[in-house]
Amino acid sequence: MAFKLTDYEAYDFANRRHIGPSPQEMADMLKVIGYKTLDELIDATVPESIRQKEALDWGRALSERDALHHMREVADKNTVLTSLIGQGYYGTATPAPILRNILENPAWYTAYTPYQPEISQGRLEALLNYQTMVSDLTGLDIANASLLDESTAAAEAMTMAKRSAKSKSNTFFVDENCHPQNIAVIKTRAKPLGIEVVVGSPDTLEASAVFGAIFQYPGTYGHVRDFTAEMDALHAHKALGVVIADPLALALLKSPGEMGADIAVGSTQRFGVPMGFGGPHAAYMATRDAFKRAMPGRIIGVSVDAQGNQAYRLALQTREQHIRREKANSNVCTAQALLAVMASMYAVYHGPDGIKAIAQTVHRRAARLANGLEEHGFAVEPKVFFDTITVEVGALQRTVMQAAVAEGINLRKVGDTKVGISVDEMTRFDTIEAVWRAFGIDRKATRDQAYRLPDAHLRTSEYLTHPTFQRNRAEAEMTRYMRRLADRDLALDRAMIPLGSCTMKLNATIEMIPVTWSEFADLHPFVPKDQATGYYEMISDLSEKLCVITGYDAISMQPNSGAQGEYAGLMTIRNYHESRGDMDRSVCLIPTSAHGTNPATAQMVGYKVVPVKADDDGNIDVEDFRAKAEKHADKLAACMITYPSTHGVFEETVQEVCDITHEFGGQVYIDGANMNAMVGLSRPGDIGGDVSHLNLHKTFCIPHGGGGPGMGPIGVKSHLTPHLPGHPEHDDAVGPVSAAPFGSPSILPVSWAYVLLMGGDGLTQATKVAILNANYIAKRLNDAYPILYTSTKGLVAHECILDTRPLNDAGGITVDDVAKRLVDSGFHAPTMSWPVAGTLMVEPTESEPKAELDRFIDAMLSIRAEAQAVIDGKMDAENNPLKHAPHTVRDLVGDWERPYSREEACFPPGALGVDKYWPPVNRVDNAYGDRNLVCTCPSMDEYEDE
Ligand SMILES: Cc1ncc(COP(=O)(O)O)c(C=O)c1O
Repeated sequence: MAFKLTDYEAYDFANRRHIGPSPQEMADMLKVIGYKTLDELIDATVPESIRQKEALDWGRALSERDALHHMREVADKNTVLTSLIGQGYYGTATPAPILRNILENPAWYTAYTPYQPEISQGRLEALLNYQTMVSDLTGLDIANASLLDESTAAAEAMTMAKRSAKSKSNTFFVDENCHPQNIAVIKTRAKPLGIEVVVGSPDTLEASAVFGAIFQYPGTYGHVRDFTAEMDALHAHKALGVVIADPLALALLKSPGEMGADIAVGSTQRFGVPMGFGGPHAAYMATRDAFKRAMPGRIIGVSVDAQGNQAYRLALQTREQHIRREKANSNVCTAQALLAVMASMYAVYHGPDGIKAIAQTVHRRAARLANGLEEHGFAVEPKVFFDTITVEVGALQRTVMQAAVAEGINLRKVGDTKVGISVDEMTRFDTIEAVWRAFGIDRKATRDQAYRLPDAHLRTSEYLTHPTFQRNRAEAEMTRYMRRLADRDLALDRAMIPLGSCTMKLNATIEMIPVTWSEFADLHPFVPKDQATGYYEMISDLSEKLCVITGYDAISMQPNSGAQGEYAGLMTIRNYHESRGDMDRSVCLIPTSAHGTNPATAQMVGYKVVPVKADDDGNIDVEDFRAKAEKHADKLAACMITYPSTHGVFEETVQEVCDITHEFGGQVYIDGANMNAMVGLSRPGDIGGDVSHLNLHKTFCIPHGGGGPGMGPIGVKSHLTPHLPGHPEHDDAVGPVSAAPFGSPSILPVSWAYVLLMGGDGLTQATKVAILNANYIAKRLNDAYPILYTSTKGLVAHECILDTRPLNDAGGITVDDVAKRLVDSGFHAPTMSWPVAGTLMVEPTESEPKAELDRFIDAMLSIRAEAQAVIDGKMDAENNPLKHAPHTVRDLVGDWERPYSREEACFPPGALGVDKYWPPVNRVDNAYGDRNLVCTCPSMDEYEDE
């Protein structure tokens, strides 16, 4: 008998894999909310005035197999040669255990920024290792983890020096031997702040005339110079010295700290992180103890938990932008955590001996290469070098470079008569021979002694002395170490992470697969364009789709985080005003509810932040907005708004706010962090935005990596297109905001795969289900925790704010208590105390099935019941499961003098039985850690259980 054909589509990625709830579950949830159909709910939620007119459409969604096939074809259009271009990017061998157990492991890549330390001890330890590694190698007291790329780190060092130096000068000196992209980003950042940049040879440094100076070590053309004299001169004039240092070179060379440097920055890319056509890689910053409070970025510190056991957490600047806003040290929020973890594991894997051996091999091969060239009559510079040489070839430059390409090797074009060559960990004898052949030399590489580093430059101090860098050399031990740390953390592979404004949605495995393909991973960012055809095709297709989604005319892929997108967007606006002779426009209106990065960024482009009030319903107070726009009419540069608002509501007045801004000559920046509520339903470009950033690490599925990587491309209207960031490697007139022309392009396959797999319909459906899931949670929890802001119809957008303040008022139960008790149920807390202190902002996303939402709701209701018991006096105000949360496995043994059982403590509703998540520490004491600041690995006797 012929079977009856099923209408089930097995390969419908959008509806079967990405979107969590099944059709039946959706129907059940709609019933709870009180709507018959999803479209009815959406019509009631999203104001008609802002709905987009046409459906998203770019043809059929691809199945997983077809998408991979298509991406493989495009990837194959990239040509992977051996790039010896250097200039900050080098070949490196990612150790296989790190590739598989970190980069390809969702336990690491789907984790969130470690704001909740109790569920983040694993990545906090890995990042502390990173800081210890950086601090050791640079010879400085304290390091952060991490910054976005070397160029922005160099620019951050400049502004940090400005904040910290006692010199009154307004001039910053930049060594002409810095990588060109570093000089360019420093210039971009300096201009709006009125800092004068002088570029020159270190020999011309006038220390009395500057507040700081920055030097590259080794220099971009290979020079190794000891900057001790420069540092002394700077200090004599109350100025600060910064060194951009290659961490591999520091394994052999005297450290910046030993030269007297105040700040060191650099990239840890060559510690096992593929070049990826420019990123992502972790940049580092280290400084002296005296300047630790001025340092930007995240710092991991050591503290204790409620039982006095050692515990890690983010130190000092945990929520710096939200607290200090335009006075914050920087706008860096999402950084490069996953890549910092990889680099730290590379150091753990190789240890100090291994790192030294790699550095020595690199140097000896570079020296051997130089010997061969010199013996055949070529003039090689410099005389003292680590891994990079520059060869004078006169009129033969093109010929040599082309011959090298024919050998499968990219060299660097230096001026019109030289070529640069940088040797790296991957350089083999046959690579050296091939380079010689490109110079017309037929010669065999031999194991002769070759050495170009005089003793005076050599490092005598030790590094990576901590046992962590000694004891994990055997792969068995290393694998277990990575596993142990991963098991301590709660990431998306175990539970929903309902973080408002952070959109922790599914990072599908299929989307991650192409990221590690050699054709995407192993391209140097400055290869000739014809070797990156696949990249250009992907970037252009993704950009086109993002234009359709946002209603903008052009996209810049350069910003490598949301906050970087804000910076790029405001700079674009600034350049636009200036191009029209509108030099005085410098006021930026920002609602008080805005994310902290908004005011922090506005300050970085030299704008004066004028806050705008919110009304009682959390909406922008339009009257206040108009009054302030009018008051600053001649000076109004921009407004920065978030849509839907950070209160999780589609404000119906958004177009009016945009119109007012335009009426007074300003430009509208719409923060796109909440695009997950809009894709397919509404477009920022249609409702009045001139520019927006998109957090591809939120809406477009790039995993959060424990605090990065991210991508924050900006979309702009056509009048702003000429003012988008450019790049020196592309000979653009406008300065860059990031080190690489396309920011962190090797993670773009994730977002590209997502839009290919979802299609326009799938993306729109995802948005609708995100709104459904949020309204379901809001409806079910509203009686227990009042929903703070809703629309006139009582609905929320894609997230909702639960008010826990009444529990504090009535029973002293704080938002912290609620958040930590959720850990006992196996959940990551929602966003805490932002945008409103004492509340929790919940964003479930479309990816969570109903069962997971219900598990979360059960946990929240049980917490509410426990709080009620405290309020009613049935439970002690201090000795209760909320105040003692979270509970660890140690609480199951030993003394127990509490008025609740161990079972109630450890297995509240929501907690899974045998699969329960056990936090490794009890509640972490943040204040203790800040009072007793320790930001490197503690001594071994303080480690327990290991
Ligand atoms: C509303 C909003 N704007 C901007 C940002 C900054 O984005 P990023 O962390 O990628 O720098 C965030 C990040 O959480 C955000 O929620």
